[in-house]
Amino acid sequence: MLTIENLYKSFGKLVAVNDFNLHVKEGETAVLMGPSGCGKSTMIRMINRLIEPDSGTICVSGTEVTKLDLEGLRRVRKRIGFVFQQFNLVGRLTAVENVMLGLVMDGIPRDAAYDKAMKALEKVGLEKRAQHKSAEMSGGQQQRVGIARALAFEPDLMLWDEPTASLDPILVREVLVIMEDLAKYRASSMLVVTHEISFAIHVADRIVLMDKGSIVEEGMPEDVFGHPASHIGQQYKELIEYQQITNARTLNSKNIA
Ligand SMILES: Nc1ncnc2c1ncn2[C@@H]1O[C@H](COP(=O)(O)OP(=O)(O)O)[C@@H](O)[C@H]1O
Ligand SMILES: [Mg+2]
Repeated sequence: MLTIENLYKSFGKLVAVNDFNLHVKEGETAVLMGPSGCGKSTMIRMINRLIEPDSGTICVSGTEVTKLDLEGLRRVRKRIGFVFQQFNLVGRLTAVENVMLGLVMDGIPRDAAYDKAMKALEKVGLEKRAQHKSAEMSGGQQQRVGIARALAFEPDLMLWDEPTASLDPILVREVLVIMEDLAKYRASSMLVVTHEISFAIHVADRIVLMDKGSIVEEGMPEDVFGHPASHIGQQYKELIEYQQITNARTLNSKNIA
């Protein structure tokens, strides 16, 4: 579905992505994790060439993205949904208008675009809010509109770059629930950059750990977090154990009180 081979990108002297290789299967959800600055955003943005790679190849559904001219790239980008940390909605437009925008610009007649947009809003549980101005919605709802905007194109591949990172903690859950549903449904392959460990453990088919531009470890969540082979993996394991202890303590103190 998605195959990345020998991908490389530097900014001046800094090597941001270094000989990166990854394969994501049809319907699979891969979660990419690693410390800030390790090259996750650079890597994921190269997949639809928001950032141009220096070298390497990227194939999406059999199309070699790295070889496409602008017209070809425009076509393949429609097959790839991208959800960013920043929602970038048009605040004065309603939810459904925001979702329709890309479809109409793509030449889809307004009526058909409206139907597709409403269907996408249903998938994120916002059909009743379709006529609300996006500026008046909560951050969680705005990000759900952002997700609907990507889903409206019925993409083969969904890319997520820290979709919950700019949300208040209490709004994170509603977005993770939608993501979990989409992963379960397996309508598209998903590559998710996130620091949400619990999501990674429960939803990922595969965890990919990255450090300093390269993959240091990959495997099923229980292997990577249970028996890590890398230093980064070990750090995640300790973090999970720490969280489990803290959760247990909180529950215990509640029982006593
Ligand atoms: N446009 C750019 N120009 C120069 N350096 C950049 C640029 N974009 C990213 N970097 C650098 O590349 C490295 C990887 O960044 P990034 O991919 O954003 O990491 P992550 O998403 O894992 O936090 C960082 O050291 C960052 O400062
Ligand atoms: Mg990033």
